[in-house]
Amino acid sequence: MSRAVRDLIREGGLPAVEARLLLAASLGVDRAWLLAHPDDPLDDACSARARELFRRRRAGEPVAYIVGAREFYGLPLEITPAVLIPRPETELLVDLALRHAAGGARRALDLGTGSGAIAVALARSAPALEVWAAEASPAALAVACRNAARHAPQVHIVQSDWFASLGAERFDLIVSNPPYVAAGDPHLEQGDVRFEPRSALVGGADGLDCIRRIVGEARDHLAAGGGSPSSTATIRPHGAGRSWPSMATPTYRACRTWPVLRA
Ligand SMILES: C[S@@+](CC[C@H](N)C(=O)[O-])C[C@H]1O[C@@H](n2cnc3c(N)ncnc32)[C@H](O)[C@@H]1O
Repeated sequence: MSRAVRDLIREGGLPAVEARLLLAASLGVDRAWLLAHPDDPLDDACSARARELFRRRRAGEPVAYIVGAREFYGLPLEITPAVLIPRPETELLVDLALRHAAGGARRALDLGTGSGAIAVALARSAPALEVWAAEASPAALAVACRNAARHAPQVHIVQSDWFASLGAERFDLIVSNPPYVAAGDPHLEQGDVRFEPRSALVGGADGLDCIRRIVGEARDHLAAGGGSPSSTATIRPHGAGRSWPSMATPTYRACRTWPVLRA
């Protein structure tokens, strides 16, 4: 049955913002077009395609996976179920990394790059910075490569189990949003998270396995001494009040909300 744009959105059984995103994707138009054409009739085939996307969303599938895209740091990124959907709060990590980079960093590494969101945002925002991105999952790497090719082809992308394939490479800045959810955490069975790769979310029994590895090995990959005025690693926090693994050196300290390691 053919429907007007506004009726289809109203009948979708979804928040209007989600229905608009899905309808725009199914029609191959942007949301501004939908807002400007609320009374345009959509033929049966278009209506049926949109209703199928609405059905998937009502069944719980994340909008980003259905439309295959999400904006991060103002950049439209390809997103597939092989990668974590970039979170708005991770943009704060990019802000913080850029502030450190402004202190004279020349080389930066994004560990566990997933879609490439952080690495691409850094490379686009700080063109003089040499940005590397490491990721263990081949399927995620493929997405990161496509996002980098589109937005920042200068990013060096490496398949690596954290630092394992990085040899003796050293960086002035190491940034990571690693998996940090404890296995068995009930949030893993809720909302959009149910659809995201477990390997992007779970950091062992207490959620800190990846953070322990990164913190333990970062010292060997941070440019030290005369290398740079700002050799730092910033890691996404596990949550308010969370305790962090205690380390002798390098030390870490809270900077804004992100723990920061210094060489
Ligand atoms: C929380 S996601 C972050 C993705 C992306 N950086 C972002 O912020 O949207 C963590 C990422 O770390 C990757 N990862 C997990 N274990 C890894 C390992 N041993 N070595 C490298 N990357 C790993 C996952 O595949 C996933 O892409």
